Amino acid sequence: MSARRVLVLNGPNLGRLGVREPEIYGHTSYSELSRLCTQWGEQEGLAVEVRQTDSEAELVAWLHEAADAETPVVLNAAAFTHYSYALRDALAQVRAMTVEVHLSNPAAREEFRHTSVIAAVVNGTISGFGVESYRLALSAIAGNGPTASDE
Ligand code: DQA
Repeated sequence: MSARRVLVLNGPNLGRLGVREPEIYGHTSYSELSRLCTQWGEQEGLAVEVRQTDSEAELVAWLHEAADAETPVVLNAAAFTHYSYALRDALAQVRAMTVEVHLSNPAAREEFRHTSVIAAVVNGTISGFGVESYRLALSAIAGNGPTASDE
């Protein structure tokens, strides 16, 4: 049985996890997060590919790739969450399952973080559980839809 592919996409500043405001985002580094996502995916029968970029254009291109290949996506859009209509429009094209994740709970932080322009075009949002948010998102995707070999 071949594993279903999932993209875990991370936006700006998330490559600095571990050193960036650890009191908010925790001490886990980006490379450790990446390793954990791959491991959690394997446990769920998913072939997870983890990527990070500081570029809005690159993130949009990755979402086009997911739309074309019908690949499920776990997306931490970071600050783009709050204002990128380009990202929202790209995400709206992905027909496979999409989950918005955040390490922190943006609703409990500054006012500008209370708005997510992508929330309305994803299947669901998981926020506030640190790196666990990603595990929960992968588990939600694993529980949804057929494996490649069933299709
Ligand atoms: C974040 C929350 C955003 O508000 C912030 O801009 C980030 C990270 C999170 O994972 O908690 O960069 O998406």
